[in-house]
Amino acid sequence: MTTDTQKIKVAVCGACGRMGQEVIKAVNNQKDMELVAAIDISNAGKDIGEITENKACGVVIEDSLKDALLKSRADVIVDFTSPDIIFNNAKIALECGVSPVIGTTGLSDGQVKELEKLSKEKNISALIAPNFTTGAVLMMMFAQTAAKYFDNAEIIELHHNKKKDAPSGTAIKTAQMMAKNKSNFASGNVPEIELIKGARGGVSESDIHIHSVRMPGYMASQEVMFGSLGQVLTIRHDSVDRSCYMPGVVMAIRYVTSNNEFVYGLENIL
Ligand SMILES: NC(=O)c1ccc[n+]([C@@H]2O[C@H](COP(=O)([O-])OP(=O)(O)OC[C@H]3O[C@@H](n4cnc5c(N)ncnc54)[C@H](O)[C@@H]3O)[C@@H](O)[C@H]2O)c1
Repeated sequence: MTTDTQKIKVAVCGACGRMGQEVIKAVNNQKDMELVAAIDISNAGKDIGEITENKACGVVIEDSLKDALLKSRADVIVDFTSPDIIFNNAKIALECGVSPVIGTTGLSDGQVKELEKLSKEKNISALIAPNFTTGAVLMMMFAQTAAKYFDNAEIIELHHNKKKDAPSGTAIKTAQMMAKNKSNFASGNVPEIELIKGARGGVSESDIHIHSVRMPGYMASQEVMFGSLGQVLTIRHDSVDRSCYMPGVVMAIRYVTSNNEFVYGLENIL
């Protein structure tokens, strides 16, 4: 049983962002967790509670991740910041002995491998999930299963137009999972000529073409299309509200505090 004195100490980086604010509300709603630090390059010096819930909570926003982690003695740092800084943030967390739970997308395969190595060297658990939504993770798992039965597949991912990286981490991860079951998903395609560069999307593992749509109105959606002679199967998931990510984030925080592992993908802890 977790008692008050054993609460999981959680720090949030990117605290003032869309996802960071949701994480803070979710952490505050857990009896076994305590928000101990909020880090963001904007609003430093302000009380984070005034931003998330219009009520001061005593946690002041800091702009130095390292200082905040050392001072707060956090157990876990949840990061939803930006693709250009996430690798460095994750390294700082591991160097400080704090388990990172990473939602920020944009890490390359090589960077994930490097973080896995560092996590093992330091004996600090870490979890990276390109998608924390249980429904989206199931969509990826179903796509991996369907991949065994179809020779052709393409992915269309649709996001709001404030998303910086493309394709989405979810699309990349889906392609990687499907590629475990087949080495070529462009079976029978003729040699192609793109009249407009990029018309056929980006080519990922096993020749899976990924198409990224960015426009207001969408939050995060993905379709995985499978084709074979005479039939098309579409597996689709839509996130309509950011609260959909929180059960997965809370599960990940608990997981890294009770298991000493490096985990890539929420499907591995469901
Ligand atoms: N894994 C998932 O399930 C999932 C879900 C949604 C979004 N995301 C990803 O999470 C990331 C953030 O998304 P968002 O919509 O919250 O973005 P956002 O732009 O609303 O928020 C990002 C926040 O990070 C802060 N920030 C930027 N650089 C920083 C730094 N060096 N140090 C501290 N704070 C810094 C910004 O000031 C901002 O408040 C993106 O990469 C997005 O793709 C992942």
